Amino acid sequence: MRIIGVTDYGQMSWKAASLLASQVILKRGSVLGLATGSTPLGVYRCLTEWYRQGLIDFSGAFSVNLDEYCGLSPEHNQSYAYYMRENLFRHINIRPDHTHIPNGMAADPGEEGRRYDELIRSLGGVDIQLLGIGHTGHIGFNEPNTYFIAPTHRVALNPLTIEANARFFASEGDVPRYAITMGLGSIMAAKRILLVASGEDKAEILYRSFFGPITPQIPASILQLHPNVTVVAERDALEAIRAKAPEMIEDGFPNEAAGLG
Ligand code: GLP
Repeated sequence: MRIIGVTDYGQMSWKAASLLASQVILKRGSVLGLATGSTPLGVYRCLTEWYRQGLIDFSGAFSVNLDEYCGLSPEHNQSYAYYMRENLFRHINIRPDHTHIPNGMAADPGEEGRRYDELIRSLGGVDIQLLGIGHTGHIGFNEPNTYFIAPTHRVALNPLTIEANARFFASEGDVPRYAITMGLGSIMAAKRILLVASGEDKAEILYRSFFGPITPQIPASILQLHPNVTVVAERDALEAIRAKAPEMIEDGFPNEAAGLG
């Protein structure tokens, strides 16, 4: 595991976007695992900008998103389909039929989960999976549980997650209670994991996820078993790791630290 520390949100976004861009440039047909939430917004802005500058061509790329709220149509402005369209897809030249998101309106979530896992397999698996992290330690919408769930499945959202996501809805009562999420099996099967984190409210859960026991009570802790994980996090989110395991943090912009930036 590599933990790359940067000083602010802009650097976090730039660094993570450059890792995704390198994947797209190195392999035509790359499969990008994409995430929502507020943290990756800057990453998507960088990719959009680099596409506008003619630096990246997404025409051969595929994307699979982690999750979607149950009961929200792709047109709903809080659906993750809408988020991806507005924040990335409509600004770049990825083909719409190459972009995939679980169907939150599926009548049979079990069947939808099987379809989605089969789709990921048929694409050859995820080359690089972008992740944020929730306050409960959730990745995608894999909430704390008594066991790890491997396949794409329907999940009841944790009250803390509902509370955290209420800021995007008119009221907490409007936040969907269920979501459909890629399971930890699909996430762990990705060839590379790229987790981004920002803000001091993520510091403790980041530490517990990567330096505490591996337990389904902290779903992100399973990433300790993945062979190729890169965490890109800004200063505040790294407070707890810096306090307890400072030698684990690499400097993301070493010239700047040396006064050469
Ligand atoms: C949501 C998403 C996650 C995301 C998390 C953190 O619930 N399903 O994929 O990582 O929230 O969001 P944020 O980046 O806004 O803190």
